[in-house]
Amino acid sequence: MFLSVPVYRMLLRTLLGFLFVVPAVATGSETGQTDPPPPPLLLVSFDGFAADYLKRFPMPNLKSLYSQGVLVEHMTNVFVTKTFPNHYSLVTGLYAESHGIIASNMYDPDTKKHFHISNNTDPSWWSEAEPLWITALDSGYKTAAMMWPGSEVVIHNRTATHFLPYNPHMTFKERIGNVTQWMTGDGKEEGAKFAAMYWEEPDKSGHYYGPENTTMMSQVLKEVDDNIGLLISELKRARLWGQVNVIITSDHGMTQCSRDRLIALDKCLHPDNYTLVDLAPVAALIPKQDTTAVFNLLKNCHPHMTAYLKENIPERLHYRNNHRVQPILLLADEGWTIVKTGNVLPRLGDHGYDNSIPSMHPFLAAVGPGFRQGARLSSIQTVDVYPLMCRLLSISARPNNGTLAHTRCMMAGERCWDVPLVIGLVVGVLLVLSTVTVLFRYVGWRRRPLSVRDFQRLNADDSDDDPLLE
Ligand SMILES: *[C@@H]1O[C@H](CO)[C@@H](O)[C@H](O)[C@H]1NC(C)=O
Ligand SMILES: *[C@@H]1O[C@H](CO)[C@@H](O)[C@H](O)[C@H]1NC(C)=O
Ligand SMILES: *[C@@H]1O[C@H](CO)[C@@H](O)[C@H](O)[C@H]1NC(C)=O
Ligand SMILES: *[C@@H]1O[C@H](CO)[C@@H](O)[C@H](O)[C@H]1NC(C)=O
Ligand SMILES: *[C@@H]1O[C@H](CO)[C@@H](O)[C@H](O)[C@H]1NC(C)=O
Ligand SMILES: *[C@@H]1O[C@H](CO)[C@@H](O)[C@H](O)[C@H]1NC(C)=O
Ligand SMILES: [Zn+2]
Repeated sequence: MFLSVPVYRMLLRTLLGFLFVVPAVATGSETGQTDPPPPPLLLVSFDGFAADYLKRFPMPNLKSLYSQGVLVEHMTNVFVTKTFPNHYSLVTGLYAESHGIIASNMYDPDTKKHFHISNNTDPSWWSEAEPLWITALDSGYKTAAMMWPGSEVVIHNRTATHFLPYNPHMTFKERIGNVTQWMTGDGKEEGAKFAAMYWEEPDKSGHYYGPENTTMMSQVLKEVDDNIGLLISELKRARLWGQVNVIITSDHGMTQCSRDRLIALDKCLHPDNYTLVDLAPVAALIPKQDTTAVFNLLKNCHPHMTAYLKENIPERLHYRNNHRVQPILLLADEGWTIVKTGNVLPRLGDHGYDNSIPSMHPFLAAVGPGFRQGARLSSIQTVDVYPLMCRLLSISARPNNGTLAHTRCMMAGERCWDVPLVIGLVVGVLLVLSTVTVLFRYVGWRRRPLSVRDFQRLNADDSDDDPLLE
């Protein structure tokens, strides 16, 4: 005989119950016991690691790392897609306009100070936000910042427990050696619960050779991957591997530039008419006298450059609401370089362009007890990393622009409803059920005509809405 309709229903309930209840049980959040302390977290940035390098180069160590954990293929970073703004967004969860580090070169009209990446330790620049290595101190945690932008800055009167300022002569091995030591602690002092570490490649070489120089970039990416191998073996040596959560990510990507794609400002206006605060590929200008007149000269200056008055900067860039944003912003199209004058190309590769351009996006990989093994996400945002890290460390996040829901499916023991998968399964089950039902009716009809009672029973059952299906 055939299965009756109530049996299908039971099967469907069981299947849906399995889909929705099992992940909830797996969280074990209803145990009522005090939670064990969260595992330590290590955040590592390889500057300028474009998402597409993962597809173009082998990266065996990195692949082995995320095969045991999570890969996010693209991360939408914040505008401007530069090093300092995005590194500060990673550890604050804020857009540049809200954390105040809006560029590599800044001028603050209130304090009349200048910021440059080699002269950046004045706390006033950083204090509009608070990085995780400071906030985590409030939970009684030790923290560490290894050459991350802002590491040595006294922010809200504090620094990380351990930190070192940027020093290009310190090797990767020395940096990871010190970080693992900080994370392990020594009998007297507890290990750091949160550590952020910075490495300057493949950014440096991407600027110098251009990302399209596959010969040179494959060597550089091999070195980066070797360093990831070193990181894994150092963590294993310190018995931290498998005990700590590790996030490997970057601040931005890289695109090829060319001498054929130069935009010279001198062709449009006299240098006496403005002060230049920042140049390529996003220029910040302060007009000397008449803002409108200067803007009119710039708005039609070049077909591959867009000029914005501060108040007209598109909302989606989240780059208007800060007094450090200058009255005029010039934005070059992908691969174009703005110079003051002449025809010398300063860099073969560059970044900083509109954050909707895929070549500007970095990636994210993660592994450790807090992450779901084998999870693959197509994209999240750079600002989503901060609430994720706060969740992993069980500390309350400061106000930020990220969304925890975007990263839930990365975390072990979090309810993760993979919406397409659930819809697919439900549709599949319904298809099978209706096929079987049609077959059943057909065979039933062949065997004997359905009585009115049969229809009544089916109708009554059909209107019995299953809440799980809503
Ligand atoms: C660094 O910036 C401060 C503040 O703008 C300025 O006073 C100082 O001269 C700068 N130092 C260097 C070495 O440029
Ligand atoms: C900053 O910290 C120092 C010592 O750590 C303390 O003496 C001082 O009062 C603090 N200042 C503020 C404004 O909290
Ligand atoms: C820590 O860094 C210093 C350089 O600042 C280096 O001499 C030392 O070997 C490093 N420590 C480890 C354990 O790698
Ligand atoms: C890549 O860079 C190297 C070193 O600068 C250079 O010799 C080579 O011609 C470049 N290749 C391409 C395709 O640009
Ligand atoms: C540019 O500067 C010159 C003198 O330096 C001045 O005469 C002219 O009005 C300025 N033009 C604009 C658009 O500000
Ligand atoms: C980003 O977050 C900050 C802090 O909560 C908030 O002030 C700001 O309005 C947010 N920005 C956007 C675009 O939501
Ligand atoms: Zn960078």
